[in-house]
Amino acid sequence: LKMRFPDGQEGWIITRYDDAVEVLKDHRFIKNVSKLFGGSMEHQSIFMHNMLFSDPPDHKRLRGLVQKAFTPQMISGMRGRIQEITNDLLEKAAGKETINLIDDFAFPLPIIVICEILGVPAEDRNKFRIWSNSLIEGSNGEHAAEMFQHMNEFILYLSEWFEKIRKNQGKDLISQLMMAENESDHLTERELFGVVTLLIIAGHETTVNLIGNSILALIEHPEQLGLLQNQPEIIHNAIEETLRFNGPVEFSTSRWASEDLDFKGAAIRRGDLVIVALNSANHDPLQFKDPEIFDITREKSPHLAFGKGIHLCLGAPLARLEGEIAIKSLIQRFPDMKLNISKDQLEWRPGMIVRGVKEIP
Ligand code: HEM
Repeated sequence: LKMRFPDGQEGWIITRYDDAVEVLKDHRFIKNVSKLFGGSMEHQSIFMHNMLFSDPPDHKRLRGLVQKAFTPQMISGMRGRIQEITNDLLEKAAGKETINLIDDFAFPLPIIVICEILGVPAEDRNKFRIWSNSLIEGSNGEHAAEMFQHMNEFILYLSEWFEKIRKNQGKDLISQLMMAENESDHLTERELFGVVTLLIIAGHETTVNLIGNSILALIEHPEQLGLLQNQPEIIHNAIEETLRFNGPVEFSTSRWASEDLDFKGAAIRRGDLVIVALNSANHDPLQFKDPEIFDITREKSPHLAFGKGIHLCLGAPLARLEGEIAIKSLIQRFPDMKLNISKDQLEWRPGMIVRGVKEIP
């Protein structure tokens, strides 16, 4: 679909599953727009100096530096700790009549985990939440000034933290990245900011909504919740189905056509903006039978919730593990939980990227 985006830019939205896969895998759709229109990455926001906004060969170098920390083996080694954090949060919730599942459970779990991986104080998580909310939701119009203030606070916070770590390096990921920074041209100071920021933001914003959206889907489909309670071993499938049905990331990041091309009959011009509607592709009836049915027994679901191609989500094994532990533990501990408001009172978060609700009482 050719369309005008809310910020006035014109571009293409890819909505069909097959087209989405093609675009995500096609190297002619690039991330670094400065290659097309001149200028350099130096002028882009400091938060964009990371793999998500880079093309090869920078992409490979930046992704390679953190990949080791996110292999399925490394992540499965974190199972015990993730379970411990989950149990603590549920224990705190146990004494209360009503909790807000987002603030009291879905948010703290992934942010504590990513802070521990990076070696950043988890006590500061509420600051990270404000800053990353602002970066994700408030990049346009009336909130722009507030966003810049938050960006500055975030940069200052990270600078001070990096100084501390430089003096006293440990085994955390930031220390490892700093060692790479010292190895001649491996990682620049800007890239260190960019990569750490991406991990903090991507490491929790999305998983919060995976947990929230899973719970909502299960509460709205009590027969599916019952099925999962009787067969907790199908939790993996249940999480995959939420990722397909109610994926936490609505749209891919922006790509630009690096040349004129004929894409399935559409004349895409060099420099055109192209965005993939991931959740739309995940509801394409040509790919998924009865896509509007939430079915946790669905077999083989090659959904695009984590993207595809070279930018395939690096944190997918971690997000899946956190989601599985969180949902399994929550429904075991609180088998009779109920939504304390009606479905139409749920307030969805603004913005084009994240799909999730503000509160789940
Ligand atoms: C990339 C989704 C959790 C780190 C992506 C992309 C998607 C995505 C769709 C690709 C965007 C594009 O191609 O434009 C999700 C979802 C998550 C999740 C749905 C949770 C349910 C995480 C976590 C981390 C993480 C927990 C880190 C700890 C990253 C990174 C990239 C990425 C570093 C960039 C990879 C690259 O460009 O090579 N994610 N993500 N994500 N994600 Fe995630």
